[in-house]
Amino acid sequence: MKQDGQPILSLTAYDYPTARLVDEAGFHVILVGDSMANVVLGHASTLKISIDQLISATRSVKRAVDRPLVVSDMPYGSYHLGTEETVRNALRLVREGGAQAVKLEGGHKRASLVQDLVEADIPVMGHIGILPQSVHPRGGYKVQGRTVEEARELLVDALALEAAGAFALVLEGVPAQVAARITDRLQIPTIGIGAGGGCDGQILVFHDVVGLSLGPTPKFARKYADLAGNIRKALGEFAEDIRAQNFPSTAETYACKELPEDWDASVKAQSLAPEIRLRN
Ligand code: KIV
Repeated sequence: MKQDGQPILSLTAYDYPTARLVDEAGFHVILVGDSMANVVLGHASTLKISIDQLISATRSVKRAVDRPLVVSDMPYGSYHLGTEETVRNALRLVREGGAQAVKLEGGHKRASLVQDLVEADIPVMGHIGILPQSVHPRGGYKVQGRTVEEARELLVDALALEAAGAFALVLEGVPAQVAARITDRLQIPTIGIGAGGGCDGQILVFHDVVGLSLGPTPKFARKYADLAGNIRKALGEFAEDIRAQNFPSTAETYACKELPEDWDASVKAQSLAPEIRLRN
């Protein structure tokens, strides 16, 4: 697709219904991202999500789709304790979750780890630029590559990850002209998020796109629907119908044959079999 100049359509998903909808819309890549920590689990950062939570989410996504490539994020802490632990965690995402590839954050310092994973037959997507898992050492979510030094550093990171065997690279929060140049210099595709239109593909967080993120969203997250607004309206109407006893209607209710008036008279609490009486 990179060679043909065809944009690679990518989006996150974390569960069965949303993954099905993303597949139906023709997206090529689904990322089971650790952004799930923020938009689904309500954490302030991505640091809190565990490998088990991502495996479980990946399973749901995999049950929903078979066309898009499903990539699972390696969460914070799952690739920080050496090669063996990293490969074990990545294998779990593949074997237990059904992921076809994993993504991890970081530049050249992760290159040897990427190589180890690729040698273990696990395809790896790199991720450079803003690294949400490095929020503490970096002191925030800062756009990367705004100076010549930083831009060169990003290019070195990108080339190192490509040389290590990464099959694609997420560029997050990178000036458009830097991302475009990195894209030109790489054989592997780049997937941009807040990195301008010169990348080979684009990705956003599902909840941001459909207006279901309840917290602040970054400036690059274009909102195409207001699902939160629609849901609020629907729930308000449902609550009002229950209060006004407009729900359920006869059509929403099961019926049975006419019962005798005293059909319940012979059933007494004292006559319940001992095994279904509550213990006191
Ligand atoms: O977790 C995530 O959603 C990501 C992005 C690339 C969107 O890493």
